[in-house]
Amino acid sequence: MVRIMKQAFLALLLSLPPLSWGMGDIAYVLIGADGSGHVRFITRKSCPNILFDGKPEKMAVRSKPGNARGSKFQTLTCETQVPKGVKSIIAGKVWLPVPVPGPRRIVLIGDTGCRMKGNSFQACNDPEKWPFRQVSLAAAAFKPDLVIHVGDYHYRESPCPKGMKGCSKSPYGYGFDAWNADFFSPAAKLLKAAPWIFVRGNHESCFRAGQGWFRYLAPDPFSPARSCDDPANDASADYSAPYSVPISPDTQLIVFDSSKSSDASDKHYQDEFDTVGKLAKALPHGFFLSHHPVLGFAAGLHPISLQSSMHESFPPEIEAAFHGHVHLFESLDFESGYPATFVAGNSGTSTDQALPEKLPAGAEPAPSAKVGAFFSSEKIGFMTLEKVGGVWIFTERDRLGKPEWACTLRGRQCERIGLK
Ligand SMILES: [Fe+2]
Repeated sequence: MVRIMKQAFLALLLSLPPLSWGMGDIAYVLIGADGSGHVRFITRKSCPNILFDGKPEKMAVRSKPGNARGSKFQTLTCETQVPKGVKSIIAGKVWLPVPVPGPRRIVLIGDTGCRMKGNSFQACNDPEKWPFRQVSLAAAAFKPDLVIHVGDYHYRESPCPKGMKGCSKSPYGYGFDAWNADFFSPAAKLLKAAPWIFVRGNHESCFRAGQGWFRYLAPDPFSPARSCDDPANDASADYSAPYSVPISPDTQLIVFDSSKSSDASDKHYQDEFDTVGKLAKALPHGFFLSHHPVLGFAAGLHPISLQSSMHESFPPEIEAAFHGHVHLFESLDFESGYPATFVAGNSGTSTDQALPEKLPAGAEPAPSAKVGAFFSSEKIGFMTLEKVGGVWIFTERDRLGKPEWACTLRGRQCERIGLK
């Protein structure tokens, strides 16, 4: 009976129209290098006090309101690092989730915004057609310890054409209003549910929504050089050093900024993959997170691969890799010594054309990357990563959280498991 009532309540929530674009304060916790926790607070007033276990501190200003590069940021962003071991965090009047040292329930989403660009316009005002809010509510109901977003938060780049009801009155451009409509408003429940790891997508490169990336989501310090406000700094601000987030005594996540990866021979990436190799040595097991797939397929089975940016292949400690960018779910195991690979760019924006159920002979995302098991789906959804006993179970779920596909990670293979 309780379960039926819960389901009915969730169904009622999901049937509600999107939240308005209006704004109260926005607060959340992100995880940065070495698992450090950082509180961010976006407000139109001044930076509030923050209470760590009841002890007050003043939050610092990260970025001030202002206009730059044609974008308007009418909000102040405040920040404070979370002291290790705290049990409660209240920023202003908002209770925030505390970082969990050994997360065992992780939600992973990607490519969530409402597409408004060129001649492609999603019905942002219809929660069925732009379902990120549904995904966010279902993912919050999973009660995660950690949320990972694999990039591409912002999609509202062009104005909604006159007479198109589905997106009428939507803000657009790279300023706060479009960020709020595309991300903060629909993600509100999930931002309250757990701390997040934000992976940078190509939509967050300096030429596009990079200014919002640095003001709100980047884990590193904000400065004029790392703000995307001045195109003269893009050549460095489009890249970030990879970093590690330990999630258990023997396993770490390695987070990689591939936002500008259209040029695979880019020396930045070769150097950064060398850093990944060094970071990976610290613990026996690693999961790699980047927006662009290192080994995957785009629509039409076109190979999509960052592999050519590496001096060598993945270090042996990396057992699984998670990506977005392609608006599908994909799971790939390899016969030739690569990590189990997952693409999860299907959490809100219009999905891509489905891939064939079976790969034709010779289909490889990169030379020598021979695919073993393969599964893909063009349905909207999100992934969960659960540690059960000593093993990780990865599940692809639909927009309401119902499991669709699952596997157990064993070394670099993910063995498919049946669903009840
Ligand atoms: Fe992308």
